[in-house]
Amino acid sequence: MSDRLSLLGDPSVRSALSAELGRTIEFHATLGSTQERARELAGHGAGAAIVVADHQTSGRGRQGRAWLAPAGTSLLASWVLRPLPADPALFALLSGVAIARAFADLGVTDARLKWPNDVQLAGRKVSGALADAAGDALVLGIGVNVHQRDLGELAAIATSLALEGADIDRLALLARVDRELARIVSAPGERRAALAEWRARASMLGREVEVRSAGGTPVRGVARELADDGALVLRTASGDQRIFAGEVSLLP
Ligand code: BTN
Repeated sequence: MSDRLSLLGDPSVRSALSAELGRTIEFHATLGSTQERARELAGHGAGAAIVVADHQTSGRGRQGRAWLAPAGTSLLASWVLRPLPADPALFALLSGVAIARAFADLGVTDARLKWPNDVQLAGRKVSGALADAAGDALVLGIGVNVHQRDLGELAAIATSLALEGADIDRLALLARVDRELARIVSAPGERRAALAEWRARASMLGREVEVRSAGGTPVRGVARELADDGALVLRTASGDQRIFAGEVSLLP
């Protein structure tokens, strides 16, 4: 395994990459959560920035869950995006396309996308994203399982690039994800192209699913389409419903 992420601890490497990407990069060997740190930076008016950690002690997942990853295994990064992208929720969803494209560039071509923000390999989750508004900025946090060889009790639902046979350098992955995020945010035409790619990579469209939203009754139906604003359109017994948040699972 060759992995250069910790080179970001060297100020000259960090400033060279910051200049190349056009964003300030902060690197922490250990940090509570890159998302919390990036929100703090955004609150202090920081411009474009990326907070990266080799290890998080309080990593946050969506819907109040924890995001756990042993040191040295994952890409854990949060972007401060300013100005706020025109449609923050859609942008968070399209970050999955940025990750899938970054994987493809590194030889992993078969990533599929699960609404709203998950990336899957071989039917299991390899990456997730979380978006928080922070004043006039968007903080987008991405976690990718890269080098894990054993996911323990999560093995039935999660995987890593290593488990799928890919030896990926986290620094190379970071640079590519950043490039693809910048591309998607750059113009409405890029956003439309990314939306088309999301649909083409979707793992659940046309399938019978159940959607659970925090505090709501689960809704069942056929995941009919992804609307242009990122809503999932579900065909239920009582007609079409547009879903904006929740967890989707396939029905047997
Ligand atoms: C999910 O639940 O699928 C979203 C996971 C997002 C995890 C990333 S890891 C980097 C950033 N910092 C955090 O605390 N969470 C996000």
